[in-house]
Order: sequence, then structure tokens, then C-alpha cells
Amino acid sequence: ARLPDHSLPQDVTPASFKAHLDACTRCPLGGCATQGVAGEGPRPAALMVVGEQPGDAEDLAGRPFVGPAGQMFDACAAEAGLDRGRAYVTNAVKHFKFAPRGKRRLHQRPGAGEVMACKWWLGLERSWVQPRLTLAMGATAALALTGSGERLLQRRGTVERAEDGGAVLLTLHPSYLLRLPDEAAAARARAEFTADLARAADFL
Ligand code: URA
Repeated sequence: ARLPDHSLPQDVTPASFKAHLDACTRCPLGGCATQGVAGEGPRPAALMVVGEQPGDAEDLAGRPFVGPAGQMFDACAAEAGLDRGRAYVTNAVKHFKFAPRGKRRLHQRPGAGEVMACKWWLGLERSWVQPRLTLAMGATAALALTGSGERLLQRRGTVERAEDGGAVLLTLHPSYLLRLPDEAAAARARAEFTADLARAADFL
């Protein structure tokens, strides 16, 4: 069943979703990225996992969470007993935002306006997936789902209500674990993230 939201695009189907993302002009990000990255996984699914935006590897592959953050997610999911293939995995923002630096493309955090513009697509995915629980990984996913930009570190491990009424478990972003310079802090953050993934796995 679809959510009764008439502002959602009516003519987009799961089969045409990627083509619509590729053609999206709701914000300027599509003009620089290689392609739009749609979520992947079963529809419906008991669990939806939401990240920030595609990274460099995802932009090239056209799939979510296949680069370093995805490898961290997969490693922690394996430890937590979370079967990624049974969850719908997507991002709050569907195009890679970056700043060119020579041959490299440096990740840039999407702005609130880009997050708001892209919520339209996330809402459509949510109407297809109808998750019982959504795992919001990082501040951007938390903002897109709950509308609140309050500090994520104070909210992680808690369940909040999404703007559309669903339950959202807030957790860290896997790239945050990769960036922590202090070994003890990184190990602690990884244990917290893995514990949140184990809670999410209980919904599958
Ligand atoms: N980071 C994200 O938030 N999503 C991806 O798909 C990859 C990296």
C-alpha cells in the first residue's frame, strides 16, 4: 500500500525510479554527479537503512554503500548478524556532492536545501518499502527522516518518530568510524554502531 501522500510523484515506478533520478533537477547536484544512486533491496522490507549520499565509489558503480563506508557497514553488519540483502539500503541524497581536487573528488556534505529537495525521492521509496523500522546512519539521514538537526551523538541509540510516522533508530555513520583518529574512541564507536545494527537486525 502507498502512503496517502498526494504530493508524491504518481508516475514513478520502481522500474523507472533510476531514470527519474538521473534526470532530476530538483537541486543542482545531478549536474556534476555521474548518475543517481537508487536504493536497493526488497520492497516491501521490514528494515530500511538510510545513509547520507553516494560517495565516489557509489557514484561510479551506481549502487549504495559499495566503497569504504559500505565495507565498514558490511563488516559490522556481519558481526551484528544483520543480513543486508533482506533490508532496503538507500541514501537521504541520491547524487554525490564533491569538490574537485586535481584528479580526486572530495566528499562534501549535502546542505539542508539539497536534503529537503531529495526527501521527495526518499518518501517515494518509503511508500514502496513500508519499513517497520528505519535505521538512520548519520546526521543527514536523521535530518531527512525526523526533520531534526539536533546533535546526532546525543541521539544515537534512541528511537525517534519519522515525519511520516515510522520508527527511526538513530546511529552513527560508518564513515565516522573510519575518520576517528583515536584507536580507543574508534573501537568504542564501532561497538556502539554494531550494537545498533544488532537491534535493527531484530526487525528482520
Ligand atoms: N556514504 C553514504 O552515506 N552512502 C553511501 O552510499 C556511501 C557512502
